[in-house]
Amino acid sequence: MTDLAQPTITETDLTTLAEREGAIVVFATPDGALDAGARKINSLTRKGVMRTVDNPQFAKAKEGDAIVMSYPFGVAASKVIVVKLARRPSVTQARKAGASIAKVRGEADVLILGGNIKRMADVALGCVLRGYTFTPHKTGDKDALGAIEVMVNEPVEVKAAADVLMAVAEGVVFTRDLTNEPANVLTTTEFANRLKDMESLGLTVEVLEEGELEKLGMGSLLSVGHGSASPSKVVVMQWNGGGDEAPFALVGKGVVFDTGGISLKPAAGMEDMTMDMGGAGVVSGVMKTLALRKAKANVVGLVGLVENMPSDRATRPGDVVTSMKGDTIEVINTDAEGRLVLADVLWYAQERFKPTGVINLATLTGAVIIALGHENAGVFSNDDTLSKDFLKAADAEDEGAWRLPLSPAYDAKLKSRIADMKNVGGRDAGSITAAQFIQRFIKDDMPWMHLDIAGVASVKAETALAPAGATGWGVAALNRFIADTYEAE
Ligand code: BES
Ligand code: MN
Ligand code: ZN
Repeated sequence: MTDLAQPTITETDLTTLAEREGAIVVFATPDGALDAGARKINSLTRKGVMRTVDNPQFAKAKEGDAIVMSYPFGVAASKVIVVKLARRPSVTQARKAGASIAKVRGEADVLILGGNIKRMADVALGCVLRGYTFTPHKTGDKDALGAIEVMVNEPVEVKAAADVLMAVAEGVVFTRDLTNEPANVLTTTEFANRLKDMESLGLTVEVLEEGELEKLGMGSLLSVGHGSASPSKVVVMQWNGGGDEAPFALVGKGVVFDTGGISLKPAAGMEDMTMDMGGAGVVSGVMKTLALRKAKANVVGLVGLVENMPSDRATRPGDVVTSMKGDTIEVINTDAEGRLVLADVLWYAQERFKPTGVINLATLTGAVIIALGHENAGVFSNDDTLSKDFLKAADAEDEGAWRLPLSPAYDAKLKSRIADMKNVGGRDAGSITAAQFIQRFIKDDMPWMHLDIAGVASVKAETALAPAGATGWGVAALNRFIADTYEAE
């Protein structure tokens, strides 16, 4: 698993900069003003920084962009990186600046001369998140990334902010590692083991095995894993940092590989279905962040871990299964398996924990990608306050999310001739009928939100803070949502 190098925050000392090796980062405002650190490097390099800033390339650069001076005269550093940034940048600009640094730094140690520019902890976060690579399966030389040091005038203040943001980074990277991992490595058992390891952080982690799931009556979830050699599991992670109030529940779809089952998917692109546990990955990442920053809230994370495989034991199209709730489901298409998993885990979460609200996350439908592309997750909710609070948090973290409708008008599509419902509603409004299906397993008056993250959990092109592959979308937004809604005094 990826080991995150924590940036160190130190007090400004400009006396030994000439001898410093690696990369040195300085900041210039959009109108070309240099702060103390940049002025020092400017004089050491005989106005090298000023000449960079006076170049049209700097004028054309956007805020947060970086320009590299290679092997500049007058300093031992192999690079001076000039970043265009206001003295009081927004969170987005500060993180973008950090990402720009990560993209040009190479493997060298980096010294960021932050001085008294605001939001240096966010610069560090951007640098750490964009510097992520997934390398456990690359043999040969793996160059370890050098250290990040941020020199600032108020180190105590910046360190406190950075500690919280690094807890977020740890959660995001945990989610990315899980989501990037191939399915022969991240089996249901390996997934559960990695979650069990989080007990060392103060979380209570229980793994429910197939025998217990059968006793609980989770026929819907179990029907998905029938065809696989990997046993189905439900993992329950509890963080009790609040008082004795009921917890908030997070529930994730953890299909470690989705072949479609007997309703087999086409070969092209099927390899992408290693990310079909992305919802469970986000829930796991958020729980890690909450534990690391010792959140003052009670949150329970539940994930349904299964593998959807075709075999002689696999569920057939036309089979009828019974959910823990007691409702029967006619499985028309074994590729609509995520909702079958969520149905039972959501019911169990509500029965056992009587939570104050529930959010579930799932790479649920290809249709949400048709609707929203890779920029926004689909948001479905029966509660305007819950969805507004979440959308506000997602906006603050720059994680795209867009609300789509729910309505009983779509329910007719889920009618079954022989069972209480069927598991697919046809092509039209595929993401909405999936959400309507899940809502049947939400109790009356339970505040609930469903996030369809099929388009955002893993992407083919780099994003602002992630290379191509797993993004960790949602960890920061959900962490902020919990902080703002459940920890505010
Ligand atoms: N895991 C898929 C959805 C998905 C598609 C996730 C693309 C990420 C990228 C899900 O289990 C699925 O197969 N959904 C079907 C539902 C259909 C059979 C009603 C789909 O979207 O085609
Ligand atoms: Mn599927
Ligand atoms: Zn799936």
